[in-house]
Amino acid sequence: MCGIIGYIGYDNATPLLIEGLKKLEYRGYDSAGVAVHTGNSLEVAKAKGKLYALSEKLQKIPQLVGNLGIAHTRWATHGEPSEQNSHPILSMSGRFAVVHNGIIENYISIKEELLKKGIKFLSDTDTEVVAQLLDIYYDGDILSAVIKVINKIEGSYALGITCAERPDELIALKKASPLIVGVGEGENFIASDATAIVHRTKDIIRLEDEEVAIVKADSIKIYNKNKKEISKEIVHIDWDVAAAEKSGHEHFMIKEIMEQPKAIVNTIRPRIKDGKIVFEQDGFNLSLDDLKNINKICILACGSAYHVGCVAKYIFEKTLRTPVEVEVASEFRYMKPIVDGNTLVVAISQSGETADTLAAIKEAKDLGARVLSIVNVVGSSIATCSDNVIYTWAGPEIAVATTKAYSTQLCVIYMLANYMAEKLSRINSDLYSSYVDNLLNLPSKVEEVLKNQESIKALAKNFYDCKNVFFIGRNTDYSVSLEGSLKLKEISYIHSEAYPAGELKHGTISLIEKGTLVVALATNDALFDKMISNIKEVKARGATVLLLTTEKHRAEAESVSDYCIYIPKISDMMMPSLAVVPLQLFAYYIAYLKGCDIDKPRNLAKSVTVE
Ligand code: AGP
Repeated sequence: MCGIIGYIGYDNATPLLIEGLKKLEYRGYDSAGVAVHTGNSLEVAKAKGKLYALSEKLQKIPQLVGNLGIAHTRWATHGEPSEQNSHPILSMSGRFAVVHNGIIENYISIKEELLKKGIKFLSDTDTEVVAQLLDIYYDGDILSAVIKVINKIEGSYALGITCAERPDELIALKKASPLIVGVGEGENFIASDATAIVHRTKDIIRLEDEEVAIVKADSIKIYNKNKKEISKEIVHIDWDVAAAEKSGHEHFMIKEIMEQPKAIVNTIRPRIKDGKIVFEQDGFNLSLDDLKNINKICILACGSAYHVGCVAKYIFEKTLRTPVEVEVASEFRYMKPIVDGNTLVVAISQSGETADTLAAIKEAKDLGARVLSIVNVVGSSIATCSDNVIYTWAGPEIAVATTKAYSTQLCVIYMLANYMAEKLSRINSDLYSSYVDNLLNLPSKVEEVLKNQESIKALAKNFYDCKNVFFIGRNTDYSVSLEGSLKLKEISYIHSEAYPAGELKHGTISLIEKGTLVVALATNDALFDKMISNIKEVKARGATVLLLTTEKHRAEAESVSDYCIYIPKISDMMMPSLAVVPLQLFAYYIAYLKGCDIDKPRNLAKSVTVE
């Protein structure tokens, strides 16, 4: 996600802001910018790409000197990576400069309203509506203007604001996206996280949702939505920079596992309007006729993204009754694929740069297929090469082993399947509405699963010296088993296989011996009894069974398994989102106990840009 830093004090702001942005680079970004109040006016410098591009630009603007400024590293969500879309975003009058982290969910309707008023927009970002609203609302009373903005916008935001007419103050506010005030001596800061300022001050104030901070060099005043000044505790943090980058977590992977509820909210919420799934923000241009002409869906992906595709096959076929093929992208090109103008190719990729997937897409396009990609990186090669893109707004994923991107890809699949089914009248309105309700409840259900963290950490102690682990499941539980097995392999280096539970007896069961760990997934009620039979099969050969199921089956689960993990119930279609989380945690704590390099496993890269 984006990085924010603001400064006001006795020092020249510009080098301090750049230094702060450098400490935020770990968050991932595709452009950066600064706005500095030079005493007479607000001056802005922005550049696409890495920080050195901005630094080079600043060397040509020696006059960008002042004691007040805000700066930003942008991770694009709405609006391609570009100089015009980078922050700080100026209002039309040039009076306000704004930096933003998060998603303004109702920006389209606000932008339409402002365009009708003759406001000229310079960027494609959701953020710009904040700058333009401030221009309209400001009459000299900055607090009232900001509170009017709070009452107007919906979604998640951490905002840093400067006003050309107020050269001695920074304004900061947030909702569902972190923002802190750094308390210095003769200087103060705002920042998206402590990493950016911990080298200058370790005394911080954590803003709560819809609080407004007016920050001067020698004073910090914080107000609630009723314009009442409130007192806030100053917290002394003892993190070093390395810990601050991970928000206090030991690894990016566990940080990103814990971020999944928020990533799911960011991916789903902007796409549910008045009880309907909408892709208006995605430039989705598959018409009803296009949807009607689809006689096959072909999913192309690699690794964990391929595992999402395996879940998607069950969901699309059950919901749409359209045949679905799921292909490993590196195989697709060499199989003389049968795709044509009536095939919808769905490409899934976190990085959007996986060479195998990109090559497969190009092959499919040459054969006449339409390509819709589900990607986490805005403006990436796969996104650019596709006819339609639906972005997973998971934010930057730093750990090589994917978790939150995988989970948000699943959410896009749920939404896409039900969107298409509703457009094609292949789902009744009650079932559609129940799926939308389940989508909105999903983040809290994932939060509930994350409460198993300590018990799974304790479980890992029994198994971190395993040599072989088997994951078994049926239907979507089998697809999730594939992901659980890969997570374990790629970060703990323990050999593991995932198998359709009904398939074990056709060969692999010969490998089961006393003490072999079998992780069994049984989250689908209709298949629970079948899974119990498969568990008994492996138990009879001496296996140790860890069963992942729902609370409803506790009695029977404990009668056949050695260990159990219970997860809450949601619609069967969305159970993969709950079942995968304990497997992520299981792999993480086993790798942790083995002392592995969890965020950067040996031989692996975050983005495999070679075939
Ligand atoms: C997942 O944990 C792995 N890092 C890997 O399998 C990854 O999913 C695969 O390389 C595909 O990457 P992509 O999603 O960026 O295309």
